[in-house]
Amino acid sequence: MRVSVLGLGYVGCVSAACLASMGHEVIGVDVNPAKVDLVNDGKAPVVEERIGELIAEVVRTGALRATGDVREAVMGSEVTLVCVGTPSEPNGSLCTTYLERVTEQIGSVLAERNGQGGDGHDARQTVVFRSTMLPGTCLNLLVPILEKHVGGTAGVDFGVAVNPEFLREGTSVRDFFDPPKTVIGTLDPVSAEAVAALYDGLPGEVFRVPVPTAEAIKYADNAFHGLKIGFANELGAVCQALGVDSHQVMDVFLADSKLNISPAYLRPGFAFGGSCLPKDLRSLVHAAQRADVSVPILAHVLPSNSAHLQRAVEMVERTGKRRVGLFGLSFKPGTDDLRESPLVELAETLFGKGYDLRIHDANVSLSRLLGANREYIETRLPHLADLLADSVSEVLEHAEVCLVGTKDPAVLSALPHGEGPLLIDLVRLPDAEKRRTEPGYMGLAW
Ligand SMILES: NC(=O)c1ccc[n+]([C@@H]2O[C@H](COP(=O)([O-])OP(=O)(O)OC[C@H]3O[C@@H](n4cnc5c(N)ncnc54)[C@H](O)[C@@H]3O)[C@@H](O)[C@H]2O)c1
Repeated sequence: MRVSVLGLGYVGCVSAACLASMGHEVIGVDVNPAKVDLVNDGKAPVVEERIGELIAEVVRTGALRATGDVREAVMGSEVTLVCVGTPSEPNGSLCTTYLERVTEQIGSVLAERNGQGGDGHDARQTVVFRSTMLPGTCLNLLVPILEKHVGGTAGVDFGVAVNPEFLREGTSVRDFFDPPKTVIGTLDPVSAEAVAALYDGLPGEVFRVPVPTAEAIKYADNAFHGLKIGFANELGAVCQALGVDSHQVMDVFLADSKLNISPAYLRPGFAFGGSCLPKDLRSLVHAAQRADVSVPILAHVLPSNSAHLQRAVEMVERTGKRRVGLFGLSFKPGTDDLRESPLVELAETLFGKGYDLRIHDANVSLSRLLGANREYIETRLPHLADLLADSVSEVLEHAEVCLVGTKDPAVLSALPHGEGPLLIDLVRLPDAEKRRTEPGYMGLAW
């Protein structure tokens, strides 16, 4: 394919050289003439493992050349990769100035080419954004710029895709040829095909997703990577203060691929609770503080959990309804344990705010019947004990708005569709995708 790469920084330079080495015909563009000259001399404008040899080779064979002229590059290609920088503004917001400028330039060239009527052989241009940008940037900011200039529709008259880059500086050439995944966010299948064809033959799973999802994936990745490093360093610092070898701890931690290095606990849902996580986080943070070790990440896990619980309270408040139902009370399915249950906290908050509440949890009702949890409920939560309903229907008949905090099949099968009480889904119900379009459904975990 004929490919133009706009921006010859780390991402653009590596993409241009690697695509050229895969057999594509690549023209790189940068506003910085020094970078253009370096590439045309067969030298890399960035310091990276293997990039020097690769650029020398592809420039020598003619597969890669560079120019300062966006028009020349876009005119001579069917796919345009946008790799300009998106740095932080002083207030932390994302700077989209370079993206907007380069998108205007591409738009003008495409408009000119349309005006010329093409040479009859022109393939539809696909504009592929590789720069990291917040969800909504492509569709709400950049596509309107292109459509305004071109006078056509994205996904019809020209292709648009978001194809985030997952390379790491230092090993970027290796990462390009062995990517952890390829993510293609597009409006239309033809654009997706054009992007997929660029990387044909590379390993790793290819994910075709909506444009904003592709934008968000890059943030999910980088936020998690930062969080992992911060977590490891904080834990290491606490271990050191307590005289424990943190690497030995992490060796065993990492060996657990059931609960630790696994998908466990990584799906948005409701707040956590129970008799262990809150207690153990509290005492770990306390031990760190006693040892004068600052652990801001660990210290903010419980506040983050409370903020999430508060979102559910706010969803109820926004409905303006007063009669509330709650399905689920124990801290997780399959148990009657109410200690530090986030649903108990939610119920207590709503009760404290004067909501007229009815609660049903089959496990809690049963254990109360058997006397197992009776004492705990009746001495610690007497105000909630009075609110417990024995049946699902009793709650549904009472409530104007129902919070669903359980996936108990008896509850799921009784929940109405688009009629009856409003539903606030705290657990992403199995049929949430369908319910999402029904009136009166709201999800906490979208
Ligand atoms: N560096 C990384 O490891 C990495 C990894 C993944 C994603 N990203 C993302 O990719 C994007 C690019 O990152 P980078 O590190 O390559 O940035 P960079 O600052 O190294 O390079 C950007 C290049 O774009 C050029 N440029 C700016 N405006 C231009 C225009 N109108 N026309 C042509 N060239 C123009 C600049 O001169 C510069 O050379 C960013 O959004 C970044 O967040 C970076």
